[in-house]
Amino acid sequence: MEKLLSNEHHESLPESYILPVDKRPGLIINKVIPVIDLAAHNHEQTAMQIIQAAKEFGFFQVVNHGIEEEVMREMLKISKEFFQLPIEEKAVYFSEDVNKFPRLHTSTTRVNKLEKKVWRDYFKFVCHPVDPHSMDQWPQIPTGFSEIAPKYSKFARELGLKILEFIAQGLKLDDNYFNGELSDGTSIININYYPQCPDPSLALGLLSHCDPNLITVLLPDDQVNGLQVLHHGDWISVDPIPNAFVINVGHQLEFITNGLLKSVEHRAVTSSNMSRISIATFIYPSSECVIGPAKQLIDEKNGPIFREFKLKEFMSIYNGHIGDTANIMDAFKIKA
Ligand code: OGA
Ligand code: NI
Repeated sequence: MEKLLSNEHHESLPESYILPVDKRPGLIINKVIPVIDLAAHNHEQTAMQIIQAAKEFGFFQVVNHGIEEEVMREMLKISKEFFQLPIEEKAVYFSEDVNKFPRLHTSTTRVNKLEKKVWRDYFKFVCHPVDPHSMDQWPQIPTGFSEIAPKYSKFARELGLKILEFIAQGLKLDDNYFNGELSDGTSIININYYPQCPDPSLALGLLSHCDPNLITVLLPDDQVNGLQVLHHGDWISVDPIPNAFVINVGHQLEFITNGLLKSVEHRAVTSSNMSRISIATFIYPSSECVIGPAKQLIDEKNGPIFREFKLKEFMSIYNGHIGDTANIMDAFKIKA
């Protein structure tokens, strides 16, 4: 079993985590991603704000989303407790098999063909569909996890679907355009744990990437920042508003909107003072559906810029080119 960062102590950053100079965290600029009030009365205006943010930044925060603060707080707390368990208690979830769920692992990655690691452990599980009678997929420890995680998962997924409805409205598609097969694939929750890092200037918690799914609902740590978003070539740090969620456009939403909404590169930096947790809920299309630009967004002036495909083809290209967004998108562009 590969060692978990969360069960080790490092006085200095091991060589295997020291990234090449061009991949290390650098300057950030002083900009903020938009904040959207989901309880505002004018739904049409909210939809337009979401579209604007998704076009310009690919990221936004949502407040007044209707999810109880206590559920959010509890989920963050219990997630942190999970990673702080002794190794013997969580080893049962550790697996090298990327298709196994739930799965606990630590990050190994290829950077410029050098084997380098990033400063993150993670725990992934399927949150939709779930059989309500089978509790065995949820960890039984820490106590309370198997109670709070299903509750949280359901709310987070519903929030994602609600935002998709606003997006459909804002694009003048049917309100339920994204319901059904486009959002009904396996939803996955990824709990990211970034331990205190001996030298955050040389390492990353997550390398720059775009998310492969339709839309992501992220609950960031409420104590420490870490998420950074690329905006016109500059990195901006996301400063989470208390009790807000961070939403971002995944690759599939960019394809379906024919490039109107942007799937934007982001990464996570580490901290030397504190460990950080983040909980990402990834909503995926079903494996059977054909993904491509929505017909309603295509006309004589605006032809499709992406071809049609199924998720399996996308995932194999994505996994073969992790972090190389230009090449991934290129594989699905219709060449002139
Ligand atoms: C992810 C991700 C960001 C974070 O899990 O894909 O981008 O803040 N996480 O941990
Ligand atoms: Ni991501």
